[in-house]
Amino acid sequence: MRILKSVFVLCFSLLLFIGVTSEAANTYQQIPLPSSLGPESFAFDCNGEGPYTGVGDGRVFKWQGPSHGWAEFAVPSINRPREVCDGSTDPALETICGRPLGVQFNEKNCTLYIADAYHGLLEVGRNGGVARLVASTAEGMPFRFTNGLDVDQSNGIVYFTDSSVSYQRWQHLELFTSGDSTGRLMKYDPSTGEVMVLLRGLGFANGVALSRDASYLLVAETSRLRILRYWLEGPRAKTTATFLQVQGAPDNIKRNELGEFWVALNNGRSTPSFRREVMALRFDGEARVLEALQGDGLLESVSEVKERNGILLVGSVAMPFVGLTHAEPISLLKTLGLESVCLSSQWIL
Ligand SMILES: *[C@@H]1O[C@H](CO)[C@@H](O)[C@H](O)[C@H]1NC(C)=O
Repeated sequence: MRILKSVFVLCFSLLLFIGVTSEAANTYQQIPLPSSLGPESFAFDCNGEGPYTGVGDGRVFKWQGPSHGWAEFAVPSINRPREVCDGSTDPALETICGRPLGVQFNEKNCTLYIADAYHGLLEVGRNGGVARLVASTAEGMPFRFTNGLDVDQSNGIVYFTDSSVSYQRWQHLELFTSGDSTGRLMKYDPSTGEVMVLLRGLGFANGVALSRDASYLLVAETSRLRILRYWLEGPRAKTTATFLQVQGAPDNIKRNELGEFWVALNNGRSTPSFRREVMALRFDGEARVLEALQGDGLLESVSEVKERNGILLVGSVAMPFVGLTHAEPISLLKTLGLESVCLSSQWIL
């Protein structure tokens, strides 16, 4: 508890010092989903179209702009029973319907990679359809809860996590409180078809993000309330260190166009008294916290914040819509002497 408390003080004194907190409520908008719930993560394709997002009925949808709305893009398996699954909001059906979590494109050939909690690592081509299973096991241990992923755009390598070898997604609360440490960070190399385990013993391995120069990965350990850094290159290659302790359970981590990162935080509470809690943090490669996004009751159970052209897409495993809000106001950036950071407020949906 003492450790938690000092982390709390550190986080918040840092934020006070930096002086940036954004209130999502000021500019908040929603794009409702056609059916089902829980847009967990977002990706844009090689033509900049999207977002694409996986939802609770097992499908991946593509946003086609305001006049065409959402269209089904992919399903995780040919055996998924549509009559039972399409539009389902029943978490008990996830094991048969699938549950796409992390999504990211290989931008060279527009292949979408999907971390499906129940199926494993999947890929689907630019026209969508039924995804192909790429991997469901490593070192003889089947994945139980495939969760986050990122793609190295220079070589097509996919980095992804399996949260646990014991607990499935529907047991995420038990996983969180159990002290389970069987989560893994892995690498799939499409040129060899091999899956390699980079880190084992993780506590609820979750979001993963590759640095802009591809020298390291950040991986969230949800139950340990921290983000680890795993070095891929340089003198520290293959070593791991704690990168950032956070207040709340870290979920997906997404890099923005500047090479900074957003991590979504979850506190597991949604009562009004906790409305002012921080729902996501933006930080740089030196683990300096640059911005804290406050939910103000609108952004509960946030699974991801993805920044694109100065807009923040807010994902959730529970909400029937995609949240949209602005990154911090430019005037605030100017006050901080960061006016070179150019944020466009153009949003071309
Ligand atoms: C796209 O590239 C990846 C990585 O090189 C490869 O594994 C995948 O099969 C390619 N997809 C298509 C549709 O060609």
